Amino acid sequence: MTPQAGLYLKTLGVPQVTLDGAALDVPGKSLALLAYLALEGQTPREVLADLLWTDQDEGAARRNLRVQVHRLRACGVGAWLEVSGSALALCPSVRVDLTELRAALARGEPGQAAALAGGRFLDHLGVPGAATFEDWREATAQAAFEDQLRALDAAAAAHAGAGHWAAALEGHRRALSLDPLRERTVRAVMDAHLALGQPADALAAYETLERRLRQELGAGPLPATAALKAQVDALLAGPAPSPRPAGVPLVGREADCAALRTGRLTLVLGEAGVGKTRLVTEAAGDALVVRGAAELTPLPYGALLDLLRSAGLHRCPERLRPVLSAALAAPGAPGLTDRAALLDALAQALVSLCSGHTLIVEDLHWLDPSTLEAAFLALHRGVPRLWLTARPGELAARADLQAVLARLDPRASRWPNWARPRWPA
Ligand SMILES: Nc1ncnc2c1ncn2[C@@H]1O[C@H](COP(=O)(O)OP(=O)(O)O)[C@@H](O)[C@H]1O
Ligand SMILES: [Mg+2]
Repeated sequence: MTPQAGLYLKTLGVPQVTLDGAALDVPGKSLALLAYLALEGQTPREVLADLLWTDQDEGAARRNLRVQVHRLRACGVGAWLEVSGSALALCPSVRVDLTELRAALARGEPGQAAALAGGRFLDHLGVPGAATFEDWREATAQAAFEDQLRALDAAAAAHAGAGHWAAALEGHRRALSLDPLRERTVRAVMDAHLALGQPADALAAYETLERRLRQELGAGPLPATAALKAQVDALLAGPAPSPRPAGVPLVGREADCAALRTGRLTLVLGEAGVGKTRLVTEAAGDALVVRGAAELTPLPYGALLDLLRSAGLHRCPERLRPVLSAALAAPGAPGLTDRAALLDALAQALVSLCSGHTLIVEDLHWLDPSTLEAAFLALHRGVPRLWLTARPGELAARADLQAVLARLDPRASRWPNWARPRWPA
């Protein structure tokens, strides 16, 4: 069933009544009556009269209620009214966004619930002289607000858990539009930006919050939010400087540098001393370097964990730290954590640490295959470029690495800039 089929009440945000998708013109008090009946069920006439005409005596209020029923019929919703001498109700087939949102939450379908989050309950609906209705609206709005945030949080968390950070960000942004001062949401927005490799946007989200808090409350952000901002600052300060060749200037590599810069994923093959390291570091400028080392080859994620140890966990998003710390405490320990979760956390850490710069994997021929997988996943998750260097003879002897390389090799469309070994000829 589409959201518009039958009589449908949109109560979240600016309210609207539709019949089979077409908007009905229902004036303020009639809409208030509809919304109340839709959410509260059958209600005695005297309760409704006091609800909507709180400022009038009982007789006048009951007369007004009768007029209101006529108006509802004139609006085209008469067929959905169940009218008796003592009470009013709506047909059970009338649908309400808030009820459907709550039902989706109860079913454990946060995505469907989040799709219905539309804003403040009965926003901009004017109902003069109805103090009792205002009390009800206030209480319902508060509960609806919390339900919507719950739905948006849960849906965004599900997206984040699946690594769909853009969708997670979108959900958190909608939650933020409901409550711009909710710091938990601001931190989630910042985290999502960091996971997407957008630290400048994370900083902008923080600054917007800070400005609003100063204006509206004369206070600053909470310590947890300030701590996250400090991490963003550290990321914006850039990755640890890559080893820059000193002394002799680079000779005769302009064309190779230019060619390398056009590739997103490139493997530079060449014998020891031929100039691979020099080429990729010159071409990349600022870069994060993961280095393969013979001693680390047998350790799953050995090269990557070494990098994390030296780069410092404080530069990784807070939410990743428990998994990363556990991995650092006992690298390669069986049953340490779900392997997929660890791979995902390490890839996200790489995206953060790269902060928009190139990721260089040096001496691939000594790398452990898990680190290579994490680097590929990081490329998928937002690292702009991944360049690998290796000695061809040693790499040919590494069947485990070849297997990982081969898995991605055929996906020319997913890796549009995949370049076959091109350097040196
Ligand atoms: N094009 C070049 N111009 C000047 N020096 C170079 C050039 N290519 C390499 N070198 C120097 O040669 C040495 C070996 O290069 P390197 O990049 O470490 O080789 P590889 O990584 O292939 O083993 C380094 O001192 C490097 O600075
Ligand atoms: Mg080298």
